[in-house]
Parts: sequence; C-alpha cells; structure tokens
Amino acid sequence: MGENPWLREPKRFLFIHRPRCFPAKIRATRTTALKPKTGVEWHGARSAGFPACPSSVALRRVDGFWRLSSRQFPKGNTGLESPVNPQTGMSALRSLNFAARCANMAAMRVALSPDSAAANGSDGRPNLDPCTIVIFGASGDLTARKLIPALYHLFKDQQMPSSFRVVGFARREKTDASWRQELRAALDQFSRTKPVDEKVWSAFAENVFYCQGDLTADAAYKKLEAQLTGFGSGPLRENLLFYLAISPSQFGEVIEQVHRAGLLNREGVAWQRLVVEKPFGRDLASAQALNRELTRFAHERQVFRIDHYLGKETVQNILMFRFSNSIFERLWNRESVDHVQITVSEKLGLGERGGYYEEAGALRDMVQNHMMQVLSLIAMEPPVSLEAEAVRDEKVKLLKSIRPLTPADVAKQVVRGQYFAGLVAGQPRPGYRQEPKVKTDSNVETYVALKLLIDNWRWSGVPFYLRTGKNLPLSASEVRIQFRPTPHVLFAAQCGNHLDANALTLRLQPNEGISLRFNGKVPGVSLGVRPVRMHFSYDAEFGAYTPEAYERLLLEAILGDATLFIRRDEVEIAWQIADSIRAGWQDRPLTNREFYAAGTWGPIAADDLLAQLGHTWHEPQVII
Ligand code: BG6
Repeated sequence: MGENPWLREPKRFLFIHRPRCFPAKIRATRTTALKPKTGVEWHGARSAGFPACPSSVALRRVDGFWRLSSRQFPKGNTGLESPVNPQTGMSALRSLNFAARCANMAAMRVALSPDSAAANGSDGRPNLDPCTIVIFGASGDLTARKLIPALYHLFKDQQMPSSFRVVGFARREKTDASWRQELRAALDQFSRTKPVDEKVWSAFAENVFYCQGDLTADAAYKKLEAQLTGFGSGPLRENLLFYLAISPSQFGEVIEQVHRAGLLNREGVAWQRLVVEKPFGRDLASAQALNRELTRFAHERQVFRIDHYLGKETVQNILMFRFSNSIFERLWNRESVDHVQITVSEKLGLGERGGYYEEAGALRDMVQNHMMQVLSLIAMEPPVSLEAEAVRDEKVKLLKSIRPLTPADVAKQVVRGQYFAGLVAGQPRPGYRQEPKVKTDSNVETYVALKLLIDNWRWSGVPFYLRTGKNLPLSASEVRIQFRPTPHVLFAAQCGNHLDANALTLRLQPNEGISLRFNGKVPGVSLGVRPVRMHFSYDAEFGAYTPEAYERLLLEAILGDATLFIRRDEVEIAWQIADSIRAGWQDRPLTNREFYAAGTWGPIAADDLLAQLGHTWHEPQVII
C-alpha cells in the first residue's frame, strides 16, 4: 500500500459533514466515500438510521499513532479507539468513516498532517492554552444567561483548554459552592441543550470559583491575585481572560487595578486579554474615551470588543458565501444589484429594559453595532486573507466609504419611529411611552429605517436600505440582494411592468437559510410567468443544532483570534455614522407620521423612503 497523499500534504483537512439530528430523531445520515486524491472530499449518500450515537469524536496522536476516539459512545459500543498507521492513515479512514456515520456533529475538521499534530488540536486549529477566565460583574444577568451556558457547552463539546478555571468577581457575598448552585439552577433555564448533563456539569463546576470584592477596592484585587496564584505559578495564573460584564464607566478603574495587581501586562510570554461588551460608548467621544481607558494598560490587540452578531453562524457565512461561490461573487456589484435591504425585525418589546433603552434607542442599540457589522460584511471587498487584521481592514474601509449624512440628508434618508399600543400576534402590547421606566413624553426611537450610499467603485449608486424595530409582526433578520430586472421586452404581455427581478435572501435568523428567487414558466399552454424559489436551509442540510454566538466568541477570545471582534477604528467610525444621524434628529420631537402601532411594520414614512426610488420593502417570510 502506497503512502497516503493526505499525510504527505501538511495542510490538508478532512471535513465530515452530517446532520445533527442524532439521537432524538434519526432520519438520515451520510455514509461516506473518501477520495484520498482530493483529500477533502466526502460524498454523502443518505441512508436510514443508526443507534444512539456519540456526540463527539477526536483524532489524537498517541505514541506516534493517530487514535480516533469518542467520549460518549453508546453502551455496548465502547472501545472504538482505533490505532492509525501514520504512514498510510488507512485505519483512520475506516474509523472516520464510522465516525462520520455516528458522530453527532455538523462538521468535524481533522488535521491529518503529523507535522501539525504538535501545534494543533484535533480540529486543525492551534491548541488552546490553559487559562483562567475572570468575569467581572459575575452576579449580573449576562453571566448566568449567556457566559456560563456557553462555557458549559464548550466544555461538554470538549472544546475548552485541557486545563482552565473560571473566576466570578462580584460584590455580593457568595461562596464557591453557593455560586455554583446558582449557576446550575440558571442553566436549567438558559442551557440550549436540555436536560443539563449532571456528570458534565459536575466536572465543569469543579473549575468554577467565586471571588467576592468591590470593584473600587484595592484589597479585592489583592484577593483576586492570591486566588489566581493559588492555581499555581503556570498558565492558570498567567494566561488571563478578563471579561468585563460591567458598566463601561467602571472599565478604567478595573483595568488600572488589575494592572496594579500585576495581572495585566502589555508584553510577555503569557497572555492577558480584555473582553468588553456593548454598549461601547454612547457616541464617538465616549467611545474614544473608552478606547483610551482600555489601552492605557493593554495593547489594542489584547482588547476584544464583542458584537454578538459576529458569533452567529449565518453572519460568519456571509464571507464564505460571497467569496467561495463564483456565480454570486461576479454579480455582487452595481452592474447587477439594484439595491440591498437589510432587515432586523423583532417581535419582542422592551421587557424590563426601559431604563437602558431610554438612553440607547434603536440607533445605538442595533444600528451602530449589529446592522453596521452585517452591512460591512455584505458590502466589503475581499480581504487579502482571513487573518483578523485583513478582514477588519476591509470592514473599516467599507464603513469609511459610506457617504456622510448631513442633517438635511438625515431628513431625507433616515426615518425613525416609536410604537404605540397595538397587537403583536394577537396579544395586546402597551405603547412605548407606557412601558416601565420610560418617560411619558419620550422621543426615543424604537424603529429606524435608513438609506445609505456607498461611494466606492463596486457600489456607486446602489442604495442600501437598513431597518430595525421592536414590536414588529415577526422576529427575523435577513439581507435581500435585489438584482436588476431584465429588459421588459419579451414578457410584457404576460406581466406588464411587474416581471419580478431576481432576488437572493440570506436569512440570518430564525429558519436560517438562503433563498434565490427567479421566474419560471407556469406549466400549461399559456406563457404565464411566476416567481419561484430555490432554498437552502441550515436545518435540513446540517441539522437543527446551532451553537450560541457566545460559545464561538469565547472560544475565539481564548484562542486570541480577533477576527470576530470589533477593532478600535471600526467602532469609532460606526459611531461617527450614528452621531451624524442623531445630529439630524436633535431638538426634533417625533411627529405623527413617525409613530406605528405595535404589531405593524413601522411608520408609513419608512415606505415613503423606498418609494423615492420606486422600491418597496420586502417583508421577511415565514420560511417553512
Ligand atoms: C442586543 C440588543 O444587542 O441584541 C437587544 O441590545 C436586541 O435590544 C438583541 O433584542 C437582538 O439580538 P438577537 O441575537 O436576538 O437578534
């Protein structure tokens, strides 16, 4: 048997894709046939079910041999740990074939190069350094709702470093045990997989500790330092991820204190990183001030600014989709695209967040961050590589090419709205001004629609329409690329002026997928033309499992890969755009045309905005 070509080629990966439908509903799986010549190609053939299956498999190198193993093989099926001949890899092929049928994974990436084994984990990425994650503001909502469930799932999926600690820092009196108990109870509510696996939780919780202290007290940081030192003098003390789940006004103090306690250094063999949440400032000036605070004792490359939209699979897929599909990439410009619509609509109202929202409004809450991020990924030029700086350079360039808005432009190009009482899905909702902690004469916008023009070669003259709002009829985020129509010469008799133009819709959530709309002949003797749809659904293709955005983001922060985080200049330019809009609204109370009933698609003025160029909003569809 000759040498396996995979093993000769150091950077080859093997991808195994399969639906994540195990074990609940075993509909189909893929049997795979390997093509060693191409190294990465597996062919899927659907066949009927398999018994309950392991949830993960790993290819490890033990004593010079590759071993394929799984933590959770079903009873009676243990012991699938297959030695792999590093010269031929043949046993690996058989084992992986089995694993592909059994593993409860959407995609597994296995590096088969012996060379990369030392530096990389089983997924071909660098191994994660042992580290400690310190959460400031640990008794807040975010920790129980998002951070701990995300860390628990990373642990469950064996994606955490081989050794790690989580330390929650907050003012309230708690012990390690009581905090663990609290987190465990919250997990029942917030875990994306249920029931919680008690064995996994217990093993995870052994790594979770509490540090009681006041953010402003020197003594608290000495205590924290002592606690970290108690983990040993190695990486658990030195590699530190500080998660600032606290008010931005406290960033400066905390960073100075951790620096003074010898826990945060700019340089060194070990690493320290700061993860910060939105809202990152409330305007350009405050964001710049925060940036100065953050980088007083840390380098910009140690700062990881979170926008949770970047942790969403579908948002990450935008670049993949654009730059790996030649048929679409060549249409992605002013020659073919008529306009673009980005909708992030929310059925939800404010809940308990009236106090926060009065300070934020839809512009600061959604447009400055999530929507600008989606826009930049949709419209940016191809980066020279997928390195963090290359990707972020292009996003910044795109944001800089958005035509600045003067107050007169804002009047013409931006619509704001506020909901009054109405029905959402048949349920009564109060008006914004009747929500708790909201002023009865508040002018805060709960809806924004805007038209942006991008002054670069690719997009000159193509309008980008963005809209977002609360208490709309449907929760859906999508991007619609509306292509130019064909000349109306052939089918005018059948369709008049209404021959549908092609459209591509990237559905970001829920019912994640991509749809292409085109025209087809209605069967029969007449020449009837009707739009039809070609649809890709994530669920159907990859199974219903989607990791939470925070899982991915925490993993990337531990890895030190900043691609999915916002760079300093990026956040500042996004604020510049938001500030120019606010300037146009200043001292202008809402007018009647700017109100909308809860449960409708926003104020009429938003329709007028598109009508200026003969366009109309396309409402997100309930995709089945
Ligand atoms: C948050 C906003 O950043 O994003 C919320 O503060 C909003 O107001 C939320 O509801 C939307 O996130 P997702 O992931 O539900 O689309």
